Amino acid sequence: MQQIDWANLPFGYSDSDYNVRCYYRNGAWGKIEVSSSSVINMHMAATCLHYGQEGFEGLKAYTGKDGKVRLFRCEENAKRMQNTADRVLMAAPPVDLFREMVHQVVKLNARFVPPYGYGATLYIRPLLIGTSPEVGVRPSEEYVLLMFVVPVGPYFKAGFKPVDMMICRDFDRAAPLGTGTVKVGGNYAASLQSLELAKKLGFSSTIYLDAKEKKYIDECGPANFFGIKDNHYITPKSSSILPSITNKSLQQLAEHLGYVVERRPVPFEELSEFEETAECGTAAVITPIKKIVDPVTNTTFNYGDGVNAGPVCTRLYKEYTAIQFGEKPDLFGWTEVIDL
Ligand SMILES: Cc1ncc(COP(=O)(O)O)c(C=O)c1O
Repeated sequence: MQQIDWANLPFGYSDSDYNVRCYYRNGAWGKIEVSSSSVINMHMAATCLHYGQEGFEGLKAYTGKDGKVRLFRCEENAKRMQNTADRVLMAAPPVDLFREMVHQVVKLNARFVPPYGYGATLYIRPLLIGTSPEVGVRPSEEYVLLMFVVPVGPYFKAGFKPVDMMICRDFDRAAPLGTGTVKVGGNYAASLQSLELAKKLGFSSTIYLDAKEKKYIDECGPANFFGIKDNHYITPKSSSILPSITNKSLQQLAEHLGYVVERRPVPFEELSEFEETAECGTAAVITPIKKIVDPVTNTTFNYGDGVNAGPVCTRLYKEYTAIQFGEKPDLFGWTEVIDL
């Protein structure tokens, strides 16, 4: 059996032993099936391929200091997948089914769960797709919920270091009444071109403005945005951003630590007032930002000393990851232990 180099895991796909699948047919979910194939056999006219009837999730399992493997807010991912399913008329998997499949897929791939101490985790990718053949634009009658896992290293190899971001005005990720609030593949397809452009220009990622007026901060490529000023944690409220579970949890943590949390429209100009800014999401938890450049208006916003993360981001990051890795008590009831 091949040895896994825990210290040098990339953040990318690799095969594991098993995935789990559950089929929705004749109006009901079937039994959970275990597969060792990484291939899906499906009809060429499946609605997921033609009309984007698909949604996905991303969550992680963490080996704690005590050796126990924990999931972080799995139920929130289940509920978000239900919202995604409802928005594009797919069958919504029950929360219990979602949770059961997550537990099973982790247990079946227990040898891929990174041990404590490397900052590495087991990434779990649930995928829901419409599989019935259709040529007219209409929802599928049948669905598959599939989950696979990938051991991943820390998102940033160099550690918790700030990045440069580019304001994107030439592309929108999602429309105000579109599908931005749910996790469908189309949103990511819409973001690819601007993300490539930003990377080519040397930026880590993009920050989108609201699609209607281009006046407010929406979110980052695949992460939410927040700014810190005067002990306030400020994050955009908008009808086109994905409700990040990390952001929701950070808001709760920030409040607990004595910061005032504001969730409201954040005007572009306010970028000049923040002491710290960051993106947040499951992959990296918090990615501090040292510079935001708007190439169209030729404006640059700088944060901190240009090298290190700011004190509030650092504190939030440490407290948050300490809960995930079982180093500090989980006062919020966010984690559940997987019985391996
Ligand atoms: C568009 C977008 N925004 C925000 C997030 C962060 O969400 P979460 O904290 O639930 O990972 C993600 C990642 O899933 C995302 O794809």
